[in-house]
Amino acid sequence: MIRKDAQTILSVKNLTANINDTPILKGVNLEVKEGEVHAIMGRNGSGKSTFSKVLAGHPAYEVTGGEIIYKGVNLLEKEPDERALSGIFLAFQYPLEIPGVSNLEFLRVAYNAKQKYLGLEEIDVFEFEDLVEDKLDIVKMDPAFLQRSLNEGFSGGEKKRNEILQMALLEPSLAILDETDSGLDIDALRIVANGVNQLATPYTASLVITHYQRLLDYIEPDFVHVMYDGRIITSGGKELALELEDKGYDFLDELNQKVLVEVGG
Ligand SMILES: Nc1ncnc2c1ncn2[C@@H]1O[C@H](COP(=O)(O)OP(=O)(O)OP(=O)(O)O)[C@@H](O)[C@H]1O
Ligand SMILES: [Mg+2]
Repeated sequence: MIRKDAQTILSVKNLTANINDTPILKGVNLEVKEGEVHAIMGRNGSGKSTFSKVLAGHPAYEVTGGEIIYKGVNLLEKEPDERALSGIFLAFQYPLEIPGVSNLEFLRVAYNAKQKYLGLEEIDVFEFEDLVEDKLDIVKMDPAFLQRSLNEGFSGGEKKRNEILQMALLEPSLAILDETDSGLDIDALRIVANGVNQLATPYTASLVITHYQRLLDYIEPDFVHVMYDGRIITSGGKELALELEDKGYDFLDELNQKVLVEVGG
C-alpha cells in the first residue's frame, strides 16, 4: 500500500550506539516511507533488538553517533514517552509483566495519554470498554484477559497478542515488532499477522524483526534487511528472506568483509 507521494517516516543515518561502553550498533542506515513494511533479519546478537530499543529511546543504550529523523524531527532529542506519544510503538521481544495493574487499566492509561497529547478528549472506563471490545476482535482475544494483571501469567503467545491489542488501540505511525512471531503457534501467528496487516495504512509503516521467513508469508515485506554485527549489510525484497532461509547466515561472513572495507572499519 505505497502511495506515489509517500513521505519518509524514518530516516536513520550512520547510527552508532553502546551499551556499558561496548559498541553494539556500528553504523545503521535505514529509510522507511509511509505505507512500507520492512523486515529485519539477522543472527542472534547482531543488534536487532538493540536497534529497536534505541529507536524507542531505551535509557540503557548510549547513542554515540549518527542521526534518527522521525517525521522530520530529530528523535534523539526526544524522551521515550514523547516518542511513543508521537506514534512510535515497540512491541517487545519479551513483554513486561506488571502485577497489580490490570490490563484494562494499563491500556486505558496509555490510550488516554495519547488522546491528551493529541489534544483530544480522554475517555472514561465505560467508553473505553466499548472501544477495547472492538479491538479484541482483531486479535481474537478473550475479554477475560482485560481483567487480569498486565501480562502476569500470560502465556508467551498471549503476551504477543496483547502487544498487538495495544498497537490496535494506539494506532502508531511506526510499529516496530520485535520477534512478535516467536513462540506463536500457527493459528496465533496468523492472528497476529492479520492484526498487523489490518492495522497497516498508506500513512503508517512497520518494521518487523523476525528470524522466520514463515512470518513474512503472512506479513509481506516490501524490503528485507539483514543485520550483521551492528550494521545492515544487505537489503533486498522478499526474495532475500527466502535466500537466507535457504543458505543460512554463513554466506554473509564474506559479504561483511566487503562492507567492512567499504566503511573503512
Ligand atoms: N545490557 C547489556 N549488556 C551487555 N551486552 C548487551 C546488553 N544488551 C545487549 N547486549 C549485547 O548486544 C548484542 C546485541 O544484542 P541484541 O539483543 O540487540 O541482538 P538481537 O539481534 O536482537 O539478537 P536475537 O536474535 O537473539 O534477539 C549481543 O551481543 C548482546 O549480548
Ligand atoms: Mg532480539
